[in-house]
Formats: sequence, structure tokens, C-alpha cells
Amino acid sequence: MHWRALVVASSTHLKDFGVLRVKKIMLSTTPSERGSALSFERVSSIGLSARHLSGIRFRSEGSYEEGMTELDTGAGAHERYIKLKPVEPQLSLTSSRLTSPMASSSDIVILTVGLVLAAVYLFRDQLFAASKPKSVPVAAPKASAGSGNPRDFVAKMKEGKKRIVIFYGSQTGTAEEYAIRLAKEAKTKFGLASLVCDPEEYDFENLDQVPEDCCVFFVMATYGEGEPTDNAVTLCQNLSDESFELSNGEHKLPAIKYVVFGLGNKTYEHYNLIAKNVDRDMQKMGGIRIGERGEGDDDKSMEEDYLEWKDGMWEAFAKAMNVEEGQGGDTPDFAVTEVDEHPPEKVYLGELSARALTRSKGIHDAKNPYPAPIAVARELFEEGTDRNCIHIEFNTEGSGITYQHGDHVGVWPSNAEFEVQRLLCALGLYDKKDKVINIESLDPALAKVPFPVPTTYITVLRHYIDISAVAGRQILGAISKFAPTPEAEGFLQMLNTNKEEYANVVANGCLKLGEVLQLAAGNDISTAPTIENTTPWAIPFDIVVSSIPRLQPRYYSISSSPKLHPNSIHATVVVLAYESIPNDKVKTKWVHGVGSNFLLNLKFAARGEPIPLAADKAHPALALTPKYAIEGPRGAYRQEAIYKAPVHVRRSTFRLPTNPKSPVIMVGPGTGVAPFRGFVQERVAMARRTIEKNGVEGLADWGNIRLYFGCRRSDQDFLYKDEWTEYAKELHGKFTMRCAFSRQPPYQPDGSKIYVQDLLWEDHEQIADAILNGKGYVYVCGDAKSMSKAVEETLCRILGEAKGGSAEVEGAAELKLLKERSRMLLDVWS
Ligand SMILES: Cc1cc2nc3c(=O)[nH]c(=O)nc-3n(C[C@H](O)[C@H](O)[C@H](O)COP(=O)(O)OP(=O)(O)OC[C@H]3O[C@@H](n4cnc5c(N)ncnc54)[C@H](O)[C@@H]3O)c2cc1C
Ligand SMILES: NC(=O)c1ccc[n+]([C@@H]2O[C@H](COP(=O)([O-])OP(=O)(O)OC[C@H]3O[C@@H](n4cnc5c(N)ncnc54)[C@H](OP(=O)(O)O)[C@@H]3O)[C@@H](O)[C@H]2O)c1
Ligand SMILES: Cc1cc2nc3c(=O)[nH]c(=O)nc-3n(C[C@H](O)[C@H](O)[C@H](O)COP(=O)(O)O)c2cc1C
Repeated sequence: MHWRALVVASSTHLKDFGVLRVKKIMLSTTPSERGSALSFERVSSIGLSARHLSGIRFRSEGSYEEGMTELDTGAGAHERYIKLKPVEPQLSLTSSRLTSPMASSSDIVILTVGLVLAAVYLFRDQLFAASKPKSVPVAAPKASAGSGNPRDFVAKMKEGKKRIVIFYGSQTGTAEEYAIRLAKEAKTKFGLASLVCDPEEYDFENLDQVPEDCCVFFVMATYGEGEPTDNAVTLCQNLSDESFELSNGEHKLPAIKYVVFGLGNKTYEHYNLIAKNVDRDMQKMGGIRIGERGEGDDDKSMEEDYLEWKDGMWEAFAKAMNVEEGQGGDTPDFAVTEVDEHPPEKVYLGELSARALTRSKGIHDAKNPYPAPIAVARELFEEGTDRNCIHIEFNTEGSGITYQHGDHVGVWPSNAEFEVQRLLCALGLYDKKDKVINIESLDPALAKVPFPVPTTYITVLRHYIDISAVAGRQILGAISKFAPTPEAEGFLQMLNTNKEEYANVVANGCLKLGEVLQLAAGNDISTAPTIENTTPWAIPFDIVVSSIPRLQPRYYSISSSPKLHPNSIHATVVVLAYESIPNDKVKTKWVHGVGSNFLLNLKFAARGEPIPLAADKAHPALALTPKYAIEGPRGAYRQEAIYKAPVHVRRSTFRLPTNPKSPVIMVGPGTGVAPFRGFVQERVAMARRTIEKNGVEGLADWGNIRLYFGCRRSDQDFLYKDEWTEYAKELHGKFTMRCAFSRQPPYQPDGSKIYVQDLLWEDHEQIADAILNGKGYVYVCGDAKSMSKAVEETLCRILGEAKGGSAEVEGAAELKLLKERSRMLLDVWS
């Protein structure tokens, strides 16, 4: 039997690891025995330093280990679940009985009491002498070089003669890609080998043992309220926690060289905070940064920020590491071989996992998405509106997939067929598109093959790599030498070196790689691509694989509650289509988002509707809603008239308070309303149960839930218009909704639009009362760029005024407090 201890901590931010207020310690067994988990409310006031519990892996809720499913504590929605590593006998908080296969629930009682007492004893200094600043860390197993310890990165560096170790903090893969790019550049420029590491897989006690002639890179994304990615939580905690001892017995480094590149997005309040924190902590410990800290802005210019930063960094790196450029070589990352004979059933044609290929049963998660039948798909906008918004229901019955209101569903799209054809033609692969290929990594430590193999050329372009993104400036330089003509080569080199021209032609023109290749070769990009009208380039396929990132799932806030819809997951998806900015080389054209148009295709197919022509008559081929190979690999996503889409669920902490007495304020204009449909359904289900038991009076002491919704016009894009009144009826006056219709009267006295934040201000007295007196919860979902900021500003005004002060001081402080207490939660995107 495998035992795990679970610590449920209070709502303090994960980043504030210094002192976690542990509310409960639960000991859980195998999933089937969860019921016997025990809780200890009395531990609640212990100020427990995270470092005390040596071996804890901090993760946000949802990223459980295999077999670790949701555990309903019934103790409030906004706790963070923090899980101990698998309990091992040698850890000081455990007893050998923990691993006993004969353990019973009485054992659990004894063990848990023992655990708590042991914790109390161990932390008596902290519990009873709060003034003592330093904690006494539980000894962690020290990693020793050459010990064969797989978590010892220094030993691995030495063994592999690597002078660089690159840690990446990444949630959706971008930071990992940049980490790999840095490793490749170090190899090409200086002939230096790197170890690219997921920090979750290593221990940091021996960071001080990194050899003097080596360098540590940190490539770190920031999330949420300035929090690290799941895989970087421990790393960040170890760096910032002054009681975290390195192998030298101190929290100090010798003059270790390091480099930091951060990935963030300026529309978020805590821009690149994690990179900044890592930099601060490394400096504090005595590390020496090489070059400037890089900061990439995902909202505007990640690639440009990276390119601008890296040249100066490499220059400083060469000096600091005493290496010269030109020592490396242009070594490929992968070897691509065409395979003449291969059992066809073993060739991946778009399957996302080995289980999908063999059609065997297993857990469905991000590594093995579930092909969910589409039960319902319909248009939410009124006819005649020039945009689409899809309501889609994924049937999860029998899949083992569970979800909670507020979670996200990840949808795995393929690329549009038009773009697949274009790149096949431009790469000269059209005639052998179905040829089976094997791809091997020539340096697995540096570059893993990012998708399953063996596969075929067309499959890679259709299902596995992101050929629809705007072509990067760097790749254009790398492939220019394979140009079919000197003019095409010159054109690509110009785009690679001339930032303004690149921005004007490629970025503003939203040109994908296939389009740039066509444009450079003088082909017409506005007609359907064929082998006749497209010049082939002799770009080796291994370069394509190593330069284009993996196609990622698209995430949608789930718009249903499992209490009303236990076997289906609903999503509310606005379809992305916009026009590019014209320039002297490319006319304006329609650009279609990959994932949302994939779902639009599925909606048409599921309803048996033809794909209509879009409004643009001037370029009919491009105005078409792009078509996708929605039948999936070997027709796996179609069963007669039923279509399926590969999905998985990602847990979130965006949840209602469990106590219905707490007032709730929800702000969600446009598709931002999606999770709130789930929230309201959750409350409806609860109300039905309460009424059944206690009658309508059972709802008497419930807090109000208020929804602020906004859209353009009540007769165009009012999402779920007819449902809200039904929910309101079932909630017997406990649910109210206010709508801001921005493009219809009434307007503001100065003629400007009325938005959700204006309605919030109109209701400022009730809002302040709900938050300050009713201990209410505030939720904001949707646009991160301007809406959520404007809403936060308005909340500051409201709270500042209610506190008799200003928005900037008292209001901001109150909002900060709300966030720290997880009573103000955001689910925003840009
Ligand atoms: C946590 C979370 C929850 C989300 N929930 C929802 C939801 O409930 N409903 C929903 O509809 N979406 C939601 N999204 C957004 C969703 O994940 C996708 O980003 C969205 O559907 C677009 O994906 P796509 O593949 O169609 O577009 P892509 O092909 O990925 O293209 C998107 C890219 O196009 C660019 N772009 C967009 N508009 C323009 C423009 N006008 N000009 C130039 N470039 C532009 C941007 O760089 C953007 O990154 C959520 C996102 C997150 C992170
Ligand atoms: N990155 C992507 O690919 C992607 C994809 C989908 C959505 N999004 C983002 O998600 C957001 C929601 O998209 P959507 O299409 O569902 O919404 P939407 O229809 O664009 O907007 C919903 C309502 O919000 C209003 N609004 C605009 N700016 C606002 C502001 N600063 N404060 C408050 N309200 C504001 C709109 O008014 P007006 O339009 O009349 O000003 C409209 O009434 C969009 O803003 C978009 O940026 C991004
Ligand atoms: C839900 C969400 C929250 C984010 N929060 C922040 C933030 O607080 N600060 C910031 O600078 N960037 C934020 N970002 C931007 C990410 O850091 C950025 O997109 C980065 O490239 C993601 O890297 P990854 O793909 O390696 O996970 C956020 C992005 C998302 C999708």
C-alpha cells in the first residue's frame, strides 16, 4: 500500500511559503480508502514553516500524482492542497507502520496523531517561541556527486561534461522551448553542452557545488498572481527560503554564475515576477549574474524580447566563461529517416499517446487526452452577427474524467488543412506526405522528440507541430540557406536582420512559415496552395522539427457544473477571426485562430451543417472558415454522425466558497461569463437539495450571488440569455444579474460606453457591504488586457471609499488583502 500525507493549507499565497498556516493534516491512503482520511482542525493555528516538512512538494491544487484524485475536505473552497512526497520510512515525520500493507483505519488514527505530535514536538520552538527567527530544518537526504542519485544535477553535469545547466519553469511549454533554444545556441556558438532540466526532477541542496567554470540558467514563466509554474514551486521556495541549507550548511553560494530569462505578460499585474525573484534570491545568496536579466512579454514581443536580450547575454557569457564564439558547429538535433516497411498499426497518425494508438484503457489526462463525443454544439450569437461563439458539450461518460466548477478543459486541435497543404508544398514533401518517418534525438538530454514516432510527414504538420503561429525571426535566418533562389535567400536574411521590416511584413501580416516561404519565392499566398503554384524549398525536416514548437492544447473555462452535468463538460468558445494589417508586400487577409476554428468545424459537422463562406468576397479562398481533418487519426474522432474531440481537464482554484452564506460577486463580460454559468449551476444544484430537505426557507440565510455580465448588444451576443431567468427562479431571489450592453443605449452622459465596471460602481454600496461586512468573495473572468484591470481599479475605488480613504491607498490595501485571503480570484486571459 502506498501512503501519502496531504497537508491542506490555508489560503495564503503559494508564493508566501515562509510561513504556511496549516489548517489540516490529512493522511490518505489509496483512492478507494479516501473516506477514511482524517482531519485535524486543531492544527489550524500552527505557523509551520514550509521548510520544516522536509520533502514536501508544493503544487497548486489539481496536479496530483497518478491515482491521487480530488479530495473533498468540505472545509472551504479556497484552500491550497499541498501534498507530501510519498511517505518513506526514513523521513522523520513518518513511522515504519506507514508502509505496512496491513494498516487499518485505526492505524491511520494512531499514525496521524503520531504525526501531529511529532510535528508539534519537532516544531515546538516555532510553536511556542514565535520570536525565534530561524527554523530547524529536518535533515534532507544530501545529494552527493556521482552517487547515482537521479535528482543530483551537479553529478549529471560532471558525468556528462556539461558546463551549463538550464532550469525551466514552464506550464504550457514556452519556457521549456526557450530553455532548449538557449542550450542549442550554447552548443552552436561555443560548442558547450548543456543539461536542460525540469526543476521538479532535481534537488537544490547542492546548488553550491556547481563547478566554478559552469553556469546555471533559469528560464522562468510567471503565472496567476505572480506565482511560479507548478514545476518551479520547490525551486523558487528553496531559493527564497533563508532557512534552506545548501550542502555547505548555509543559504549562501560561492560566486556561481547564472543567467535569467523570464517569460511573462505585461497585461498581468505581477509582470515577470518569478524571474525577478529568482534573480533577487540568487544575488542575495552570492551568485553572479551574467549579462542583463531578460524579460519577455508574451502579450507583445516575446520573441523580439528574447532576440534583443540574448546577443548581449552571450557576449557577457563568453567573457565570463572564457570561451570564444565559433567553437561550436551546426549539429542537427534530430535524425529523420524514412522507413520503407513498418507495421502500419504502429505508425502514429495523430494519436496523442501510445494508449490512443493501441486503443487501450487508461487514465485520461494531458498525457492521454480523451476523445470525447460531442453531445451538443450550437451557436450562441444571434443569426446575422459577424462573429461566432460556440456552446459545446463534451460527453465524458465512462471516461473516468471528473471535474469541478471553475476547472479548465484543454482541447487538442489539429492545424487547418489549408496550412498543412501549404507547408507540404513549400517543403517539397507533398508527393511523399504519407511516407513513414522515424525521428531520433541526437542528444536526448538537449532535445527530446516532441511527439510520438514513427509517424508520417503529413501527420507531423497536421497534428503535432504549431505551423499556424506567426513565423519567428530567428528561424527565417536559420533556413535562408536552403532557399530555392538567391533572391529568396536575400529576402529571408533581410527579414531576419531587419527588425522593422520583420515587424511590418511578418508580424503585422500574421504570416505563418509556409506563407513566408511562398512570399520569399515569389508565390501568390492568396490562392489555394498546390505543388504547381508553390516553389519547393530543400529544408531538412529535422530543422523543421527542431524549430517549430509542439502544437499545444487550448484551454477553456468550463461553463457547467458537475452537480447538474456529471457526465458532460460544457465550454463557451468565441471563435477567433481577425484581419491582418496590410503592408507593401502583403495585402490584408483573414487570420483564423487554430483551436476555436477547429471547434467551429466540429460544431458544423456535429450538426450536419455545411461550412459557410465568410463575408470576404474579395479573397474567397482565404475567407473560407478553414477546414480541419476532424475525423482524426484512422477516423478515431468520428463514429457515424458523432464527432469527438481530444480533451483533458486541468484543475483550477477558481471555486465558489463552500458556505452558501457568503455573498458572491462575479464579473464576467463576453466569454468571461463561462465559469459563472458553472458557478450558478452549482448553486442551483445545492438549492434543489436544500429545498428538498428544508423547503425554500432553507435558502433564507444564503448570501446573494450577483453576476455582472457585459456584451455588445442584448439582441446579438447576450450569452445564455434565456437560461439566467430560469436559474434566478430556482435560486429564489438569491441570484441577481446586471448587464452592460456596450453598443446600445443607454450610454454614459458623455456618450461613452457602459461597461461592467460602471455597473459595479453604480452598486458600490451593496458591493462594499457584501465584501466588507458580509465577507464576500469576488471573481473576475475574461479579458486580462483591459477589462480585469479596470474592474480592479473600480473595486479599489469602492473599497477605498467605504473605508473612508482613497482608491490608491486604502482601496488597494483592501483588495490586496482580499487576494491574499483568496476572496478575490481571477481567471483571465489575453
Ligand atoms: C485560463 C484560460 C481560460 C480561457 N477560457 C476561455 C473561454 O472560456 N472561452 C474562450 O473563448 N476562450 C478562452 N480562453 C482563450 C482560449 O484558450 C484560446 O486562446 C482562444 O480560443 C484562441 O485560441 P485559437 O487557437 O483559436 O487562436 P490561436 O491560433 O492560438 O491564436 C491566438 C493568437 O492570435 C493572436 N491574436 C488574437 N487576436 C488578434 C488580433 N486581433 N490581431 C493580431 N493578433 C491576434 C494572439 O497573439 C493570440 O495569442 C481561455 C484562455 C485561458 C488561458
Ligand atoms: N488571445 C485570444 O486569442 C483571445 C481569444 C478570445 C478572446 N480573447 C480575449 O478575451 C476577451 C473576451 O472576449 P469576448 O469575445 O468574449 O468578449 P467581447 O465580446 O470582445 O467583449 C465583451 C464585452 O466587454 C466589453 N469590453 C471591452 N473592453 C472592455 C473593458 N476595458 N472593460 C470592460 N468591458 C469591456 C465589450 O465592449 P466593446 O467591444 O463594445 O468595447 C463587450 O461589451 C476579449 O477581450 C479578448 O481580448 C482573446
Ligand atoms: C492564466 C495565466 C496567468 C498568467 N499570469 C502571469 C502573471 O501574473 N505575470 C506575468 O508576467 N505573466 C503571466 N502570464 C503569462 C505567462 O507567463 C506567459 O504566457 C508564458 O509565456 C507562459 O510560459 P509557459 O508556456 O512556459 O508556461 C500568465 C499566463 C496565463 C495563461
